[in-house]
Amino acid sequence: MKVIIRNNSKEGSIWAAHHIAEKIKAKAAVTDKPFVLGLCTGSTPIETYAELARMVQAGELSFRNVISFNMDEYVGLPEEHPESYHSFMRTNLFSKIDEPEENIHILNGNAEDLDAECAAYEKAIEEAGGFDLFLGGIGEDGHIAFNEPFSPLTSRTRVVTLTEDTRIVNSRFFGGDMNLVPKQALSVGVATVTDSKEVVILAFGPKKARAIHDAVEGPYSHMCTVSALQNHQNGIIVADEASVGELKVNSYKYFKAVEAVEKI
Ligand code: PGA
Repeated sequence: MKVIIRNNSKEGSIWAAHHIAEKIKAKAAVTDKPFVLGLCTGSTPIETYAELARMVQAGELSFRNVISFNMDEYVGLPEEHPESYHSFMRTNLFSKIDEPEENIHILNGNAEDLDAECAAYEKAIEEAGGFDLFLGGIGEDGHIAFNEPFSPLTSRTRVVTLTEDTRIVNSRFFGGDMNLVPKQALSVGVATVTDSKEVVILAFGPKKARAIHDAVEGPYSHMCTVSALQNHQNGIIVADEASVGELKVNSYKYFKAVEAVEKI
């Protein structure tokens, strides 16, 4: 695992957007096969999406040969609801880039058969060739996608029950009322994410400091599902100074030194 540390979320987001753009271009230079990209929602990726959209609009990048799969969606929230992840993605990314509509995949939290929806999602990811890069965030409780503590690190796309903590954290999007936050969601599993050739996790702000400590310095454990990245060959956490506040000084220095030498 590597940790890229930037001064603030803006610089971290620019780094992440440019890294993703480079990877899309690098694949396009050697093959016609689409780039398969995992995407997340939440406050954290907004600046990264803004920079990706800027690049597309400036003609520096194209999503025409990108196939994307979002990591999760609430169960029972209408797609048109302003806080559905369908709405979030349309507003923050898809309406601003040139990704063909048929290449966009988001789990249907209103499917009649939720288990069948999840199984079909895993199959579609496999048929697309598997993820080249998965962009994720991290929950305050260390979750990756909606894989709450106690999710198996071998888990696959499925129906999950959100913790009360997550519903309280997300209630800020629902007028502060946690009763309006759905209790369940569909989520890719931890293994769905770690099967990706590369995983890039964004973490900004002091509220993520405990989770970053657990993910980087804690045990490989279902208690902090992002810790699964410890066993990944290409796992990168993009953090700001505030979110690495709970790391040991020596860990911090080591990650800075790695970046200086390897020019990531
Ligand atoms: P946030 O959510 O970006 O809104 O902090 C991240 C997450 O829960 O994974």
